[in-house]
Amino acid sequence: MSADNEKNYTDIYSKSMEDPEGFWGEVAEDIHWEKKWDTVLDRSNPPFYRWFAGGELNTCYNALDRHVENGRADQLALIYDSPVTSGTVKKYTYRELRDEVATFAGVLAANGVAKGDRVIIYMPMVPEAVVAMLACARLGVIHSVVFGGFASNELAVRIDDAKPKIIVTASCGIEVGRVIPYMPLLNDAIDIAEAKPESVVVLQREQEMTELQDGRDIDWAKAMATAEPHDCVTVAATDPLYILYTSGTTGVPKGVVRDNGGHAVALNWSMKAIYNVEPGDVYWAASDVGWVVGHSYIVYAPLFSGCTTIFYEGKPVGTPDAGAFWRVISEHEVKVMFTAPTAFRAIKKEDPDGLLLKKYDMSKFDILFLAGERTDPDTLHWAEEKIGVPVIDHWWQTETGWSIAANCMGLGPFPVKAGSPTKPAPGWDLQVLDDANQQVKAGEIGALSCKLPLPPGSLPTLWNADDRFVESYLEEYPGYYKTADAGFIDEDGYVFVMARTDDIINVAGHRLSTGGMEEVLANHQNVAECAVIGVDDQLKGQLPVGFLVLKAGVERDAADIVGEVVQMVRDQIGPVAAFKQATIVERLPKTRSGKILRGTMQSIADNKEYRMPATIDDPAILDEIEMALEGLGLAGKRN
Ligand code: COA
Ligand code: AMP
Repeated sequence: MSADNEKNYTDIYSKSMEDPEGFWGEVAEDIHWEKKWDTVLDRSNPPFYRWFAGGELNTCYNALDRHVENGRADQLALIYDSPVTSGTVKKYTYRELRDEVATFAGVLAANGVAKGDRVIIYMPMVPEAVVAMLACARLGVIHSVVFGGFASNELAVRIDDAKPKIIVTASCGIEVGRVIPYMPLLNDAIDIAEAKPESVVVLQREQEMTELQDGRDIDWAKAMATAEPHDCVTVAATDPLYILYTSGTTGVPKGVVRDNGGHAVALNWSMKAIYNVEPGDVYWAASDVGWVVGHSYIVYAPLFSGCTTIFYEGKPVGTPDAGAFWRVISEHEVKVMFTAPTAFRAIKKEDPDGLLLKKYDMSKFDILFLAGERTDPDTLHWAEEKIGVPVIDHWWQTETGWSIAANCMGLGPFPVKAGSPTKPAPGWDLQVLDDANQQVKAGEIGALSCKLPLPPGSLPTLWNADDRFVESYLEEYPGYYKTADAGFIDEDGYVFVMARTDDIINVAGHRLSTGGMEEVLANHQNVAECAVIGVDDQLKGQLPVGFLVLKAGVERDAADIVGEVVQMVRDQIGPVAAFKQATIVERLPKTRSGKILRGTMQSIADNKEYRMPATIDDPAILDEIEMALEGLGLAGKRN
């Protein structure tokens, strides 16, 4: 690393701390504004800070139209690559994507959807999902994309919270080796929900067509054939662009709100500063549009900055083999890729020597970014060695929308330290706090917290829940945003993210609430009490395991009860929860005041040292928990 590079990051970071208004005001010049902002940062109503107050713009215009008008009309905007549909590849230029989006905006408008209304998008990884998102943005309509791996109940909760006028869906999704009909799931969700959508737009996929309901359902293709294209509708910078639900500490998800102005400014800037890509480069985030990575880095950021984004409907392995990522990189000349470490663990497991890599030309490939969970040193070194490019861990959350900490490859990279996402990104005043809200010394673990105000692009609030926003994130450490991650910053300023401080677990890069799973288990007729913990897993990072205490007098076969609760979680939360293991125990370890000692149980499961909690009611229960874990085959990991 040259001293100049280091200075570059240091200068920019310092400027963003000392003069955030000056820094982001300059960065914001790269976005097309219909009306310039009155204030870069409105600090008049803390803790609700608003970026670019008074400014007006359109997000879709910035993602598509301005590139069409400024010489990129014939450049590819999006390449859809779908190994699960016999290798379909479909390419859209900026002009073609703009036209599709304008037409679908016409479909929505013709069906009564207007600025400020909500539309839920429940779709698999088909390009029409992007078209629907951008069409909403074009109209100033607030989209809420729901991941296809969630069950009806989860979808219903989101319908009731967002109250969408229209839901956009597809007839089916495709997982490895199986087609998943979406309409039964959606119909059940609409039945469960109190808020009923006026219409449902359905994209028929040939793998599994569906019957449309008269009077409610609109056929995507037919509607597109007759719709009038709709122009961009100007919105306030502070208007919501989307709501993205994420796991909270209960079964009720949090509706993270993203605004239009700050989002466009921060994401557009991040593409060069963090990912070191230029307009025209091919960029691939292998995630799902249902997650924040999909929103930020499959759809919005690459399009804001005039890149070509890859839209991949497949998996790292099994579609058809562990060379799938290398094929896509070489076939579409990907420069930068972004995915979750779990995907690389899956590849490494199937092709430990990286033999499949040798089949492909990877010469255009520059950098691999990983996020969603900590990049473990084994995976890091394997990927570095096999691919021969920098492998960059970066840390962020649905709430933040982009990196809190990263090795900013466009600002002069730092040497990689295994297990660290490097340094706080410009804009993020990251500090490690103790329980008394005081900064701890370098190297000491504490609560990773970001001093307010947060930079643009981060959540301004939760949908219709300002109080919950304050209570969840801002109350515990006054003046700071609580990330709910614990970790430390070392002597060199490198950040280490170690664990969540709440009940969130990370399963294959997917964020799930164990509290939400407990709510489901507790509803089983034979269950008196339960606990769910996340245990270490070599492939998925963590896997949920349930402990059930049965009601007195229940004599049923344990395997039947376990089978039933596993099915309940699958039906009520979804297959993505990967809840497959549960065991029946006599009692749960608790403090004298009755709090379940989940952390201690987790340490036992992960073979980590733990201190016997001083307040434990009966230490002997821990032996029972250990035996129960052994019964699940988790004992082999322990000494
Ligand atoms: N619709 C319906 N079902 C879905 C789904 C979707 N969109 N996505 C996943 N599922 C199902 C899977 O089929 C699987 O079902 P099963 O229990 O019947 O096998 C279950 O949900 C769990 O899925 P997943 O966690 O993806 O496990 P997997 O075994 O299918 O694949 C990996 C494992 C590691 C290959 C896969 O998780 C992966 O590619 N992860 C990348 C992580 C990622 O994209 N993270 C987003 C943040 S960057
Ligand atoms: P999500 O909101 O789904 O993006 O999940 C956010 C959570 O995932 C964070 O709070 C962390 O716990 C975890 N996470 C994401 N990226 C990283 C990373 N690079 N290192 C460690 N943990 C991460």
